[in-house]
Amino acid sequence: MRTLRIIALLLLFASPAVAASAATAPGPPADPAFDETLAAASRAIERHGITDSAMVEIQGALARLAAQPALADRAALYARHATAGANAAVLASRGAEGLTLYLSRFQPGHATAVHDHESWGVLHVLEGRDHYIHWAVDHDAADSSRAEVRQILGTFLTPGSSIYWFPPPHDIHTQEAVDGTVWELVLTGRNFLSPSVLARRHAYDPKTGGVSPITTR
Ligand SMILES: [Fe+2]
Repeated sequence: MRTLRIIALLLLFASPAVAASAATAPGPPADPAFDETLAAASRAIERHGITDSAMVEIQGALARLAAQPALADRAALYARHATAGANAAVLASRGAEGLTLYLSRFQPGHATAVHDHESWGVLHVLEGRDHYIHWAVDHDAADSSRAEVRQILGTFLTPGSSIYWFPPPHDIHTQEAVDGTVWELVLTGRNFLSPSVLARRHAYDPKTGGVSPITTR
């Protein structure tokens, strides 16, 4: 069983040095560094499949991107790409079912629900401290609105930290900013904010066992 194949290699990379600049958004041309990161992820998946080896290569690609000038003014970048009601802004995407790169922002006092993504994913912390918890799920075979979730890993991610998760059912976590705003780069195999993927995602209530449509990432 792959149940415990879940996450999670946790790697520490050197904190990124950042400089000034600006990136772009839907409308203006995309920053080449974002596209190169997707290209590196694509090469990793082609070479290794969705494996630890590929995830580690993608962790490296995100660490390289973290040092790019385009990431210096996170707030402005986020504002240009913001998605209403989400904690993530899409920086570059190869479509709803394709590789997608995001800038995520979490504010203290707003822990996410226990939620899935319908995809594997890799995150890299740019700034702040993130209380990250990974969950395992046992679905109720007789009732799709019921599932039991349990914590299997909890950690505090700091700048330069990276973690990854595998496709469903290994794609469930919670995140909460500790102390101040958390900024992260995230790269997934699908665009989890696209309407077609969003419609397949779920939030899980650990206390009641309830499963509901996603309302927040
Ligand atoms: Fe998430």
